[in-house]
Amino acid sequence: MAKVLVIHGPNLNLLGQRQPDIYGTTTLAEIDRRLVALVDTYQSNHEGAIIDRLHAAQGRYDAIVLNAGALTHYSYSLRDAIAAIPVPVIEVHLSNIHAREAFRISVIAPVVRGQISGFGADSYLLGLRAALAIAARADPGRAASGGASRRPRARQRRP
Ligand code: DQA
Repeated sequence: MAKVLVIHGPNLNLLGQRQPDIYGTTTLAEIDRRLVALVDTYQSNHEGAIIDRLHAAQGRYDAIVLNAGALTHYSYSLRDAIAAIPVPVIEVHLSNIHAREAFRISVIAPVVRGQISGFGADSYLLGLRAALAIAARADPGRAASGGASRRPRARQRRP
């Protein structure tokens, strides 16, 4: 089985009580419960802590599912961290960020493998599905058995 890390960014610890009309009523604990049998999960409200966790994921995880919260919209440090590591990152959002305010563009979109946005808590499960498919394609034997190849893998990059 591939090793996957799910990272939740700022304010996602408030899911369930935070703007339920936009983010639904599922709490972060409930989302983690759905994922935790399959993956490691981590939440932080701090940009640097998330960046440290991305750096530390090298050689330990085959893919990362990342909901960066509002960092998505302005954090070039986060973008550079994603670009700096060989581990493929799948960007997820509960809400459809493209259907919301104009500032909710993604500055990390050019350096992630793909984006899933707008399916509520299911965005994480869809992200996990994408992560497992990417890991299996990159290293079929490893994804099926042990996980976390140390071999850097080619990443799609825009210039
Ligand atoms: C979010 C969307 C962001 O615009 C917002 O700042 C969040 C949550 C989402 O999951 O829909 O914190 O990433």
